[in-house]
Amino acid sequence: MAILTKAPRGTQDVLPEQSAKWQHVERTALKVSELFGFKEIRFPTFEHTELFARGVGDSTDVVQKEMYTFNDKGDRSITLRPEGTAGTMRALIEHGVLGGALPVKVSYLTSCFRYEKPQAGRLREFHQFGAELVGAASPAADAEMIAMVSQIFDQLQIEGLSLEINSIGCPKCRADYNNALREYFRSHEEELCETCRGRLDRNPMRILDCKSPVCSKIAEGAPVILDYLCDDCREHFEELQERLSDLGIEYTVNPTIVRGLDYYTRTVFEFVSNAIGAQGTVCGGGRYDGLIELLGGPATPSIGFAMGIERLLLLMEKTGVPFPEEGSVDIYVGSMGRRASLEAANIVNSLRAEGFRAESDVVGRSVKAQMKYADKIGAVFSCIIGDSELENGKVAVKNMKQGTSDEVELDELIEYIYENRLGDVCGALEDGFSDLDGMNIPPEIKF
Ligand code: HAM
Repeated sequence: MAILTKAPRGTQDVLPEQSAKWQHVERTALKVSELFGFKEIRFPTFEHTELFARGVGDSTDVVQKEMYTFNDKGDRSITLRPEGTAGTMRALIEHGVLGGALPVKVSYLTSCFRYEKPQAGRLREFHQFGAELVGAASPAADAEMIAMVSQIFDQLQIEGLSLEINSIGCPKCRADYNNALREYFRSHEEELCETCRGRLDRNPMRILDCKSPVCSKIAEGAPVILDYLCDDCREHFEELQERLSDLGIEYTVNPTIVRGLDYYTRTVFEFVSNAIGAQGTVCGGGRYDGLIELLGGPATPSIGFAMGIERLLLLMEKTGVPFPEEGSVDIYVGSMGRRASLEAANIVNSLRAEGFRAESDVVGRSVKAQMKYADKIGAVFSCIIGDSELENGKVAVKNMKQGTSDEVELDELIEYIYENRLGDVCGALEDGFSDLDGMNIPPEIKF
């Protein structure tokens, strides 16, 4: 029966006590991307298998080994998305978005599926925040995307990530490079894994990315693309570096970065941590100038990235990055008897409409048990309404932390909570969290 109570290998549940951390990361990423002019796009969890085979590339590990592919009841080959770029481009082409004003800037929060060997930071279902800047060929666009990732990490107060960049050229310079790679790997053909032997003629760059230890060892001695860049690609890469330096963004050039997906051209980049083990790449991206045309759309140079949310959270937890405090329950309104229970339900409803977190009894507990529960959920204030409170129109409101209590008119309860809970908002501002969404803040003063 374990199959009923155990999640499939490589998947993770996000339990209620962790979800505030996820929301913090997701909201921060979305908020920063909005500042850069990005709007959210949502697209299906599954697509026609052909989209990924063509878009991601049928000699990549992702397509050859890792896709969740099945035939649906209509006998179509369907694949759960292993990444977000191909689906995003399919959607933009299908809906004619690329015929409008360019660049189109879209971002997404999405789950992805890859049948990989699970380990820390590597799952079979994982989540990405990604962004695509579609319709801009210049190094300025590359620098802007990298600046956006940096700002997201700054806002999250993440430190110690290193940015590594490379250029993997365009089809023009890639041809010469591929020939050099073929020549090099041919001299090691017998040692390569079977998949890589198959890649030798079709796509030798993929051998550079093979996870087999033997192939990676051989790849260490392979020619590097930077020595083969054409003048245009070299200039592009130089201007990107100039712009990054100008923006004060530190980087290193790592000529071994090739990325695991076939659509990349020119700029590729990764943000890497050495604090979370072997799966240290928390964000990867690059330019894909030929992808949209390859998928049947108009030639549209573009660049994007995606960051793995699980890896980011792992890094934040490992390195002790602060998370905003979760908002606590502002008030627990207990009750004794049916009339009081109705009144308590009304009061909490009004408090919630004003933006406060308020709870009342929905279980039918005794007064003592209600108070115990109020304590357990960390309510800041509590009160109990009974017949006499209803008659007098007054209730004793207890400050659960300080043990003090005030007599408050029932119809002034909201004002009382307003006055007494504002201190928390100011505290959050002083702590430097610009995103106050996780706190209980009356809508009027939320910004
Ligand atoms: P990717 O490098 O395959 O790129 O994935 C991006 C990020 O997703 C990785 O840096 C990592 O943080 C996370 N990730 C990848 N695989 C796993 C896994 N099995 N478990 C946990 N996290 C994982 C892409 O997906 C491209 N679509 C990025 C892009 C967008 N390029 C241009 N636009």
